[in-house]
Amino acid sequence: MFVCLLLQIVVSTFSEEMYATESVAATNVESKQEKIKKIMGVTNADCKKCHPSEVATWMKTVHAQSPDMRLYKFEGNTKKYATAMGITSASLLADSMCADCHATKAVRDGKVKVISGVSCESCHGAAGGKDGWLNRHQSYHASMPIPRAEETAEHREARLKHCDEAGMIRSSNLYGLSKACMKCHIIGNEKLIAAGHKSASAFDFASWSSGELKHNFLVDKTKNADAPTLWMERTGGTAENRKRVKFVVGTLTQLEAALRQRADATNPAVIPQIAGTAAAANAKLSQINAFAPTPEVQKVTTLITPLLGTLFVPQPSDKTTYSQAADQVAEQAKLFAKNHNGAKLAGLDTMINQLPPHFSQQYKEKYLKN
Ligand code: HEC
Ligand code: HEC
Ligand code: HEC
Ligand code: HEC
Repeated sequence: MFVCLLLQIVVSTFSEEMYATESVAATNVESKQEKIKKIMGVTNADCKKCHPSEVATWMKTVHAQSPDMRLYKFEGNTKKYATAMGITSASLLADSMCADCHATKAVRDGKVKVISGVSCESCHGAAGGKDGWLNRHQSYHASMPIPRAEETAEHREARLKHCDEAGMIRSSNLYGLSKACMKCHIIGNEKLIAAGHKSASAFDFASWSSGELKHNFLVDKTKNADAPTLWMERTGGTAENRKRVKFVVGTLTQLEAALRQRADATNPAVIPQIAGTAAAANAKLSQINAFAPTPEVQKVTTLITPLLGTLFVPQPSDKTTYSQAADQVAEQAKLFAKNHNGAKLAGLDTMINQLPPHFSQQYKEKYLKN
């Protein structure tokens, strides 16, 4: 049985050029256009070949279905928001700003196009390019297919370092994963919000990643575990502790993202919505700090609470004030993710239990009836 499991994970594709190279690290500062060039897409990158259960789970999510719901039909709210933004029905499916969040864009035949819904690479980082992470992330030896258990410690260290530098966002990177969510779930475009689009919803990283989105199948393709299985195997971490850390890190990145949007906001009619998201995240952090005090969260609430008075009113110094605050929150979020394993955060369980795993209405209607 054990051998079978190992064999499932052994990579059998070394004959294919696509997976065989181990090239040097990429630089991580890149423009949006460069990033789009590196997006391969679920099909082109063959994610399904090795991650069939993850892909099958993803297909059922509203992430996968969002273009069908929002971009292919030019009607209702889609038409209303797009028209307000000067976007036509044809450009909606090309390089539109709507497709930044409701889809995955990639270069096909020299043009930027929508190729699927919100895909793996939206959260785990663009995989392609000659220094990309796709090849290296699953290669346990420079020239031979060997089981995971036989990889040397040196090879693993070099491999994971390459992946991280190439922009792969792995399970251990809770700050990176939650930031990926916020890039779409905290909306800052003032014109879009003024047109009636939501600026945010009651997003919560811990509960919103444990419902329809959950896809932890790496060690056993038949069982969707409550925490990433490879991460549990490597670190000895538990789902319960991970959820606590996710809850705090997610709230910190939510605050960071809202402050960044607030820094750029100038429309007095829109500012209250964006400010509301920041204030709500800060209130949640104050509560977190009451149930399970930590120096990182303490620092953040001490920094933000005095800003609440001006948060809802435009000021000439907004850009500096809120960008600097966001940078400081980011710093504490990274420190929190690094310093805590969750074992001492049991005080948060009452708060966490009030937010059960989140499923969209569409998912509930299709898959959770009975
Ligand atoms: C040829 C097989 C193969 C392909 C193709 C493949 N993977 Fe993987 N993937 C693996 C293996 C094997 C692992 C376990 C790596 C390890 O032991 O560190 C893995 C691990 C991962 C992890 C978890 C890494 C961690 O350390 O937490 C993610 C995320 C991931 N893959 C995403 C993807 C995505 C997205 C695609 C498509 C763009 C993809 N993979 C394509 C085989 C593959
Ligand atoms: C920054 C990311 C982002 C951008 C840009 C964006 N959306 Fe959205 N949109 C979202 C998210 C996230 C939701 C879901 C909110 C939720 O349910 O929590 C959403 C929901 C929607 C909905 C369903 C809710 C409703 O208001 O009817 C429609 C329709 C929609 N968007 C259309 C558009 C169109 C058209 C554009 C471009 C003009 C666009 N969106 C741009 C992130 C974005
Ligand atoms: C909306 C964001 C998002 C999308 C889309 C997404 N993932 Fe993930 N993925 C995550 C998060 C978050 C985790 C960590 C989950 C946790 O903490 O329970 C994760 C974990 C994983 C793991 C580790 C599982 C384990 O058991 O160790 C793999 C492998 C993976 N994802 C592959 C994929 C593949 C392949 C796709 C596309 C079919 C995909 N992901 C799409 C966010 C995403
Ligand atoms: C590339 C943009 C993007 C990223 C990254 C992203 N999302 Fe989403 N997500 C969306 C959009 C857009 C919707 C709304 C889909 C629709 O209704 O059209 C959505 C919807 C959802 C829903 C369903 C909400 C509901 O009740 O309808 C959940 C749950 C969710 N996202 C969780 C996450 C989590 C957790 C992460 C990070 C690990 C994440 N998302 C990252 C764009 C994104």
